[in-house]
Amino acid sequence: MVASMGEILARAKKDKYGVGAFNFTNIEVLETILKTAKRLRSPVIAETSESEMNFLGAEVIAASFNVLAEKLTVPAVLHLDHGKSFSSVEMAVSAGYSSVHIDGSLLTDPENIKITRAVADYAGERGIFVEGEIGRIPGTSTVHKQEGMKINLTDLTDPSAAASFFAATKVNCLAVSIGNLHGVYPGRERLDLNRLGAITEVVRGFLSLHGGSGICEADVKSAIQLGIQKINVNTELRQAFIGGIRSEMAANPEEIRPYEVLPEALERVAKVVEEKIYLFGSDGKY
Ligand code: 13P
Repeated sequence: MVASMGEILARAKKDKYGVGAFNFTNIEVLETILKTAKRLRSPVIAETSESEMNFLGAEVIAASFNVLAEKLTVPAVLHLDHGKSFSSVEMAVSAGYSSVHIDGSLLTDPENIKITRAVADYAGERGIFVEGEIGRIPGTSTVHKQEGMKINLTDLTDPSAAASFFAATKVNCLAVSIGNLHGVYPGRERLDLNRLGAITEVVRGFLSLHGGSGICEADVKSAIQLGIQKINVNTELRQAFIGGIRSEMAANPEEIRPYEVLPEALERVAKVVEEKIYLFGSDGKY
């Protein structure tokens, strides 16, 4: 069923599990994400970045999501990931997204507070859930060749800055930078769990962990126990989808029927979603 982000995260917070927020670029992947969540009786968040939203179109996305999610027996939410401007947020909300992330992390702190507060005011009047971001999460959702990535200490979320940002902006959820990176790197990313503990002491809202691909699994589990409720996953889904298409085309180079090529890619996507749902502990909750 189409659900509210606040409700599914409140239950996750109470019972200490994480809810996967899975990115998609096409309807087939969206449907695969939703079907896998249904099979595992897990709540689910389907999300698009600005580029993904622009590729498929916000209205097509929201209409497709509503048709597919209505039939589900588990709660599902449509979320805008890394909205960088007020106009992206407006585009998503007008189309029917019920939850948005406003990412002002590349701005100065006062500018970040200003745009995030403006989005929270706009969204609040419309019953839309808002995620803000304080600290900077480096990287892009692709496969990186270099070992890890140097994270500047100043990029990590400072607990007291997070508390002031949360109070000043009135967001529902905060995305934090605690060693997580966007993308997959050789070697698993390790999280600064002490920092996360200090953040959860002072921020009473929901917390979101971006860069959910390639993080050390034990750290993901600890982060959930410490107070992360929403975990974003993109790169591993992209790898699975494109990897499936590549291998199918290598095996059958003459094939041109999309419905013969796509199933392998979608099976691989389903496998990643399944692994993450088990890792986050959200299976069997509905
Ligand atoms: P990954 O690409 O590392 O999974 O991160 C996804 C993400 O955080 C989207 O906001």
